Amino acid sequence: MKDYFKVDEWKIIEEGFDPHYNKVAESVLSLGNGRMGQRANFEDAYSGENLQGNYVAGVYYPDKTRVGWWKNGYPEYFAKVLNAANWIGIDVWIGEEQLDLAKCEVISFRRELNMKEGYLKRSFHAKTAAGKEVAVEAIRFCSMVDDECGAIKYSIIPVNFTGEITITPFIDGDIANKDSNYDEKFWDEVHKNTADDISSIQLRTKKTGFEVLTAMKCVLLQGDASVDYRSTPILKEKYVATEIKVEAKQGEVVTLIKYATNLSSQNYKAEDMAVRATELLATISAKGFDIMLAEQAAAWAEKWKNNDIIIEGDAKAQQGIRFNIFQLNQTYTGEDDRLNIGPKGFTGEKYGGSTYWDTEAYCVPFYLATAEQKVARNLLLYRYKQLGKAIENAKLLGFKDGAALYPMVTMDGTECHNEWEITFEEIHRNGAIAFAIYNYVRYTGDEAYLDDYGLEVLIAISRFWSQRITWSADRQQYVMLGVTGPNEYENNVNNNWYSSTIAVWCMKYTLEVIDKVKASDNAKYDALATKIAFNETIESGRFADIIAKMYFPQDEKLGIYLQQDGYLDKEQLLVTDLPATERPLVQKWSWDRILRSVFIKQADVLQGLYFFEEDYDLETIRRNYDFYEPRTVHESSLSPCVHAILAAKLGDVERAYQFYLRTSRLDIDDYNNDTEDGCHITSMAGTWMSVVEGFGGMRVKDGMLSFNPLLPEEWGALSFQIGFRGSLLNIRIAKEGTTVKNLSDTAITVILKGASQFVEAKNEVFVKA
Ligand code: BGC
Repeated sequence: MKDYFKVDEWKIIEEGFDPHYNKVAESVLSLGNGRMGQRANFEDAYSGENLQGNYVAGVYYPDKTRVGWWKNGYPEYFAKVLNAANWIGIDVWIGEEQLDLAKCEVISFRRELNMKEGYLKRSFHAKTAAGKEVAVEAIRFCSMVDDECGAIKYSIIPVNFTGEITITPFIDGDIANKDSNYDEKFWDEVHKNTADDISSIQLRTKKTGFEVLTAMKCVLLQGDASVDYRSTPILKEKYVATEIKVEAKQGEVVTLIKYATNLSSQNYKAEDMAVRATELLATISAKGFDIMLAEQAAAWAEKWKNNDIIIEGDAKAQQGIRFNIFQLNQTYTGEDDRLNIGPKGFTGEKYGGSTYWDTEAYCVPFYLATAEQKVARNLLLYRYKQLGKAIENAKLLGFKDGAALYPMVTMDGTECHNEWEITFEEIHRNGAIAFAIYNYVRYTGDEAYLDDYGLEVLIAISRFWSQRITWSADRQQYVMLGVTGPNEYENNVNNNWYSSTIAVWCMKYTLEVIDKVKASDNAKYDALATKIAFNETIESGRFADIIAKMYFPQDEKLGIYLQQDGYLDKEQLLVTDLPATERPLVQKWSWDRILRSVFIKQADVLQGLYFFEEDYDLETIRRNYDFYEPRTVHESSLSPCVHAILAAKLGDVERAYQFYLRTSRLDIDDYNNDTEDGCHITSMAGTWMSVVEGFGGMRVKDGMLSFNPLLPEEWGALSFQIGFRGSLLNIRIAKEGTTVKNLSDTAITVILKGASQFVEAKNEVFVKA
């Protein structure tokens, strides 16, 4: 764990510049607004180590797969989010020298992400090789209000000289993905233009044909006065710039304001984008930078009103949770049901920017409680719309009759992952998609979703399970062979308890929903059954038979569920037996050694006990937790949060707190030595869950919210906001007791520590600890 960033409740601050840490800082200080985002790269040139990253949501490229040994059924392409045109660039020349912090003496440096108001500020004082000193301040943001726009205010003060400074704002579209499989570039130029004060460049992705137009308009100020500057256009392959020469005076600030826009052909006809960009740039430049920034602060204030979590008396924990909430809101706003949440969001290329089961298992609860209902619904609809492809995908693998296998990794519904043990075997992802439907309906009460969309997905998923599970004549039970559970440190195992449990749960839930839909709208049910050729007698009959006769591995003596058949044959070591020098295992051990070992990457049996806790008594959960956690290395970012929630449920507040710290500061403190690739965005939703479901003990039962609070010693108090079926609640857990404040106009009944409490509109109840 590193203490690189300063602790502050609303900011992430880098004080002083450590080039070795630059890529981590670029990830952590990333910006985004749901439509586009970027790493915290410098505007000015930097020849030191960095990872340039600008991304436009939903714009991807299917890169040709690269594998060691081809296996039938592998997808041919891996769609990856594209590193897009760099619109932040501003080259600065001081006389004949280019400003490049890698070549200057950096006298002071500070970069800070202001999470309260949603902007990034960088300031530094540097001396060039020729001894010229400049003080620079750059503020920029991706606008939450004008979400196709961003703006930068870049100010330079010549500290010890008077002379010419050349400022060249540019858009560079000659960008390559670092993760390109064959070192190819994915963008072609369509056209570029500099006319009047606007420069633009339109690029088209190879194969997918997405077009993105990036345009800029610049304003120059000397002192406080706007200057009518003369500029020279520079046009190169996939590059436009405008060179501005300024006679700068010692001590007088020169400011360039760069307004930019990114438009995608997903939202406009390609031929209309130039006109639209001109309009948008006119609108935002008429507003001006300061008003845009004020609007940005107001938009974030609105978000924080519903989203903020306040942890009193523990600034590190406070910074951690706000950072997670901030990044989640920057990544996905739920405006567009074609978009989803990549594990790295807009902070890096790893994982291809694609959709994983992370969305359904981890992110949906966050958006359910902190955003309008349509946001979580849009995440569900994203999968509904991809059902056809999931059926196609299953068909490719030999399944039939409308069985659906959702992809492990996807952009548009097509499977992208190409390691057989994951692509073909990590099928529990199908279960998470069904679970999210259940979770959404349980939370919102929107049962009509089941009639219109949910049941169709559930039947297709259950059809898959019913074909994937086999009858063992030997056991006289159903079994599930050759799977990989959430713990990816085991492959091709038989009867992974979690996968079997979620499969059976899917079938049970499907049967329940069939009855519900029939009761609510029989004609709709009949129409669906006809559309998908569902033979209720035969297919429901098979689901019921599997439910009744499924085999689940367990050990009677230990009183635990077995992660898979044969798990106890492994040498029963514990994580405490591992020397620190051998961790993380994924970097230190050969893969076969990992597979043979007892060590667990992330919650597996425990993931099931977390999802389906109501089906198990506390002692069963405790026995399994006490057995599996000491064998878990938490080498997936998704692991600590589930353990935090379970530890809290079991009343172990200290362990819950340790897991909370680990999940919430995973990127700020670069726990896993991999933040330079990007932040772990999806696990940030897990962090939120660990506070609200862990310490808040929040659950939804029978259409009601219930809370079972638990406060870590280290915290003075904890408070969070929850939106639930039209009400907005503030829950404050303090040492003396818990207050539920109803901020909305609708009265609500909640369960607090097991007792029902009626909370009138705009009123509160307090229950002693
Ligand atoms: C985890 C998966 C997860 C993926 C993306 C992997 O390391 O094992 O469960 O879906 O990362 O976050």
